[in-house]
Amino acid sequence: MAPPGGRAQEPPPERRALPGTSYDDARGRGAVPEHASQARRRQEDHGDRRLHRLLPPGHRARHPRGRHDPGHGQSDINRENYELGLPCIKKAGVAHKVDFREGPALPVLDLLQDEKNLGSFDFVFVDADNYLNYHERLMKLVRLGGLVGYDNTLWNGSVVLPDYTPMRSYIRHYRDFVLQFNRTVADDDRDEICQLPVGDGITLCRRVK
Ligand SMILES: C[S@@+](CC[C@H](N)C(=O)[O-])C[C@H]1O[C@@H](n2cnc3c(N)ncnc32)[C@H](O)[C@@H]1O
Repeated sequence: MAPPGGRAQEPPPERRALPGTSYDDARGRGAVPEHASQARRRQEDHGDRRLHRLLPPGHRARHPRGRHDPGHGQSDINRENYELGLPCIKKAGVAHKVDFREGPALPVLDLLQDEKNLGSFDFVFVDADNYLNYHERLMKLVRLGGLVGYDNTLWNGSVVLPDYTPMRSYIRHYRDFVLQFNRTVADDDRDEICQLPVGDGITLCRRVK
């Protein structure tokens, strides 16, 4: 979208360098799902609640205007992949808030399963493997009304194709896992789900119980 009377702003070089990223905010910020969901959530769930965090209370930074500022936890088995996006994180001035844990996500989530973290996360995005294992842990870590987003849940469209359809081997290989995951979150009465048919499909699970 172009700003009033002007041309659409060019993405900064950091964003242009990253494949698959978008830059569509006329005021010069990238589109961050939290912005939209945060505003709606304030209205729907918590009235004036301004506290927003991905990390437990001990990790919160103070917002310059005196409000609590959200922290961000991030985990990846491969540090290089995290570092790929780091220039954007730094340029946005939020690097000090990111608590990066290198290693497989499951042990990281297990470490977080203690009293002070349960129900403390607002939003989690999952884009790795073992979704079912993550889902069990994440349903305990997100707060009521919090969201978990799972990427690739359309799995190249294969989830709606008949079994006999020819498919690339890695699509075929993981298809049953994706189907099982989709069924499980659809049947799970702890969440409400919404399928976003963008890219390879994102399933949003909102914790309601
Ligand atoms: C498809 S990439 C997505 C990265 C990022 N979400 C993005 O869209 O740019 C998947 C990432 O998950 C990481 N990953 C794969 N299996 C993992 C695991 N078991 N634990 C933690 N990270 C894992 C990979 O190293 C890779 O960086």
